[in-house]
Amino acid sequence: MAHYAVRESPPLRGEIPISTSKNAVLPIMCGALLTRGDVRIENPPDLTDVTTLCSLLEACGARIHRENGALDIGAKDFKNPQDEEDVRKMRASVLVLGPLLARLGEARIPLPGGCAIGQRPIDQHLKGMSALGAKVHFDHGGVTLSGRLRGATIYLDMPSVGATENLMMAATLADGTTRIENAAKEPEIVDLAAFLTSMGAKITGAGTSTIVIEGVCELHGTTWKPISDRVEAGTMACACAITGGELFLRGARADHLRSLLFKLSEAGVHIKDTPGGLLVFGRAKQPFEIRTMVYPGFPTDLQAPMMAVACKTGGTSVFLETIFENRFMHAAELQRLGAHIRVENRVAVVEGTPYLTGANVTATDLRAGAALILAGLCAEGETVIDDTGGHIGRGYECIEEKLTAVGGNVKRMDQV
Ligand code: UD1
Repeated sequence: MAHYAVRESPPLRGEIPISTSKNAVLPIMCGALLTRGDVRIENPPDLTDVTTLCSLLEACGARIHRENGALDIGAKDFKNPQDEEDVRKMRASVLVLGPLLARLGEARIPLPGGCAIGQRPIDQHLKGMSALGAKVHFDHGGVTLSGRLRGATIYLDMPSVGATENLMMAATLADGTTRIENAAKEPEIVDLAAFLTSMGAKITGAGTSTIVIEGVCELHGTTWKPISDRVEAGTMACACAITGGELFLRGARADHLRSLLFKLSEAGVHIKDTPGGLLVFGRAKQPFEIRTMVYPGFPTDLQAPMMAVACKTGGTSVFLETIFENRFMHAAELQRLGAHIRVENRVAVVEGTPYLTGANVTATDLRAGAALILAGLCAEGETVIDDTGGHIGRGYECIEEKLTAVGGNVKRMDQV
């Protein structure tokens, strides 16, 4: 059980190393189940989501070894997890479905429930697997898929990131050619496709809305270094925008963050793209409008951090959340710090105020927790964030150490 104590801090200055992307690593770890060979993932982030997925892969019979900045996964022999609790612990575990089905001819997972930010159904994953020839059977709160997969054309009703990843993985070992139409285009999809290609998969079009996968008989082991975390980099850019200062985000990629960088520039923050990372300097001064969209639109995962920025920026900023139906829970917590926010369904209107004051608040989800830390950096006195749910450590590696190293006053207190 963690709490974070944040005090008003001077403008942040210095360098922050950006970790490896959580959202790239999780599907890649599941993709390791597609081969009997050994897979090495370089520099995995130290996050609870990664640890939880390691336990699930072990429960599937995979050998996991983590040492010296590498995660080794060996899935020579494996099986469906026997204890459904292992799967239920995190939403991303739905990504084992494709690999299990492709290699074992059968996969079973408990149906994921809704989560704090929305219902998050998996109908597109199941519709796609069914198009690939899997029989889908629901019972006792779970879903079982079975059968030999053959290539097919799949049209996704919305470009779901997880469904695109799951189907792309399943199709690598199917008979014949699969086309995923209206596929998601996120950088993590491109990285997963490149990882699978390095294992011998035949994939074209990743990063566009049509991905074509020619099935192969088997994949081999590989060593892979996933991309840096664009959401962490974006959150740190917001931390700079809120305190005013100068941060060098080592390893951050401008090409993955265009929508955020344009918004920050509109707000008056300066950005310099360099070969080693991004230099961000100056404070946000102008209000802005954000509409979350699928990539390359503005990422829903950066909506909460940008709302923290809007709270301190003069004028009226407007947020429209189009991806998740309940992703404004941080608004009520930010209001406890003195922010002026009105929420109406999927729209939030923020009137910037020069004064926020510290208070006791709760991290309702991962990105909401990060937004509260950022707001705490510019709130008078102390802000204590109750993260009993352990949300922040699921997605931000040592956020308190990284912010402290650049002058932020953030402490993490673990309680048992
Ligand atoms: C991934 C990211 C998450 C990010 C999200 C949107 C990972 C581990 N997580 O989540 O950080 O916020 O993309 O960029 O990469 N949907 C359906 N049916 C489906 C699948 C999705 O209706 O079968 C809906 C969801 O409820 C949601 C929207 O589509 O409203 C987007 O979901 P999706 O792109 O699948 O997000 P995730 O892959 O779960």
